[in-house]
Amino acid sequence: MKLLFYAAKTYDIKSFDSILSNFPDIEIDYIEHELEPRTAILAKDYDAVCAFVSADVSAQTLEILSGCGVKAVLMRCAGYNNVDVDKAKELGIAVKRVPAYSPESVAELAMALAMAVNRRLYKAYNKVRENDYTLKGLRGVLFYGKTAGIVGTGKIGAAMCRICRGFGMKVIAYDVYQNPDLKDFVEYVSLDELLKTSDLISLHCPLLDSTYHMINIESIKKMKDGVILVNTSRGALIDTDELIEGIRLNKFLGIGLDVYEEETGNVYEDRSDEIMQHSVTARLLSFPNVMMTSHQGFYTLEALEAIADTTLNNMIDALKGIQTGNDV
Ligand code: NAI
Repeated sequence: MKLLFYAAKTYDIKSFDSILSNFPDIEIDYIEHELEPRTAILAKDYDAVCAFVSADVSAQTLEILSGCGVKAVLMRCAGYNNVDVDKAKELGIAVKRVPAYSPESVAELAMALAMAVNRRLYKAYNKVRENDYTLKGLRGVLFYGKTAGIVGTGKIGAAMCRICRGFGMKVIAYDVYQNPDLKDFVEYVSLDELLKTSDLISLHCPLLDSTYHMINIESIKKMKDGVILVNTSRGALIDTDELIEGIRLNKFLGIGLDVYEEETGNVYEDRSDEIMQHSVTARLLSFPNVMMTSHQGFYTLEALEAIADTTLNNMIDALKGIQTGNDV
């Protein structure tokens, strides 16, 4: 079984190669190119292709893949909004994905961001490196005994609830659906109540029409002064311009963002030599209480191994015509 692996990064190659001996029937070729109509032809005589969130798996790409003899598209991620699923069905190409891989990886980064902005670790690290041992600008607050407000209590939000409980926090949550696994220690409240009473707010709901810009100047004004806000979910849950307005109103003790509206085009690219034009990212980073990372929530050894293992099992199932819960 031959697999062509598009847009391969060094860490992808490492994680897939490390478990390949468990799949003796699979042979993988890695290429750096993204899967799109111009590169689909490279899959000639491969049984399956592996793609990521940024691929263009449109009808045109799928037609070319089908002509090449490809029988399965394996998404090495949960999302599949970039795949024309109807066209794949019409062409008889199976599409499989990795619905869940280590939710704790994302939740632990959410807490790391909350801690880092609270205790200003990014500043403290640089100060000590510069032989500056003063404490100016570093004072934080206790999490112990405070209230954590978790928006969205699916797999990742539930993991964040458990972490916050471990810190000795009272945990409240808002979701359109209540997670029964959390009933012993999480109190569900309205979104308004959560905004008004939380000391730490962490976003873990998906980006939908109903959640687009759910954090805006109106919701920010409802928050407590000195709140910490963390977003590891999707950038557009927050209206960035209005977040900046809220920062200028001195609302936040800290803000930690692993995702942000402007990230497309930046994510996983090195743009350090470029002059950024009209960058709200740069504006956000000009504030002393903001810390940003680039969509690295999923990026742990365990999550990468889980993605590789599920993807290769998906390949075997797809080529044997076996349907599973990972089918799109
Ligand atoms: P999930 O599907 O298990 O949970 C999502 C939860 O959000 C569900 O409980 C759902 O009922 C709730 N929800 C839906 N609409 C809502 C609304 N209007 N208000 C409040 N809650 C609502 O998803 P999972 O796996 O926990 O992922 C959460 C998000 O994390 C994903 O949507 C994704 O955007 C993000 N993510 C970020 C990663 C990173 O590397 N930073 C990696 C993986 C996921």
